[in-house]
Amino acid sequence: MQQIETAAEYLRAGKLVAFPTETVYGLGADALSDKAVAAIYAAKGRPDFNPLIVHVADVDAAKKYVEWNDTAQMLAGTFWPGPLTLVLSRKKDCAISLLASAGLDTVAIRVPAHPLALALLEKCGLPLAAPSANRSGKISPTLASHVQEELGGKVAMILDGGACGVGIESTIVDVTSAPRILRHGKITREMLEKIIPITEQKPNGKILAPGMLESHYAPNAKLRLNATDIREGELLLAFGAVQNATLNLSETANLEEAAANLFKMLRAIDAKNPPAIAVMPIPMEGLGVAINDRLARAAA
Ligand code: TXA
Ligand code: MG
Repeated sequence: MQQIETAAEYLRAGKLVAFPTETVYGLGADALSDKAVAAIYAAKGRPDFNPLIVHVADVDAAKKYVEWNDTAQMLAGTFWPGPLTLVLSRKKDCAISLLASAGLDTVAIRVPAHPLALALLEKCGLPLAAPSANRSGKISPTLASHVQEELGGKVAMILDGGACGVGIESTIVDVTSAPRILRHGKITREMLEKIIPITEQKPNGKILAPGMLESHYAPNAKLRLNATDIREGELLLAFGAVQNATLNLSETANLEEAAANLFKMLRAIDAKNPPAIAVMPIPMEGLGVAINDRLARAAA
């Protein structure tokens, strides 16, 4: 496909290319190049150097850069390609830009499941650093048009793969020692625990995915979570069969559908400029844990 060729050339030349993954759109650059990685931070307007996820084509490519271990092998064997990011120690001779690790001695790495992302990774032959393709602190993009609106002027190209199937970012698991969830996502704790025991303990109460400290996914309107009524001036983002919804994450109360709709609907409802948005309760089970996590950040 000509588009993939062109995108791969841009990436090899150190330019930024936004591409679809199964979770959200990524803002990609050559992870081996400090200059290209610096351009990602500049385009996103990230105030600090929050480390980036590095995308590779397969397990063998990952092994070139990180200290692989049995836990990583078991999890990658089950969930890659897919929405699971593994945090692993950098190899001594790791060629990935230190800027992508933002000073940590680890790299967050994953093999995405989207056919365009995989084709691009194979074509360019580079590991690609790619945070979500939104301006810092804003809602992650699940459509090419979202990327165009926020970063259109700052990227060489946007590969359009339509709507992202999963709709929320990958689960992040630190596997440098006892496996720990750093960010909830489509791969739930229950799914991970079928493979390996997981702790969610944050040592010393510290959050270990640095990006999770920020208030994030911020819409302009105030969000009121777990709403069981609609107050004066509010628009309703519903879940389940109800009337009076401005938008409904899933009329059948399906969590997968709700995750896929979440960011798109947050953007759409926020674009109506309401003073506030009431969001109905989402059950805290399975994928609902990740959805509630993103909603809590959006409301912060
Ligand atoms: O689904 C996803 O993961 C998407 C797509 C594009 O792959 N990417 C994504 O990237 O969500 P971003 O930059 O928006 O979020 C990366 C998160 C941040 O919270 C960051 O702090 C954390 O990963 N992270 C990156 N490298 C890390 C590391 N070495 N140790 C701990 N956390 C890390
Ligand atoms: Mg992000």
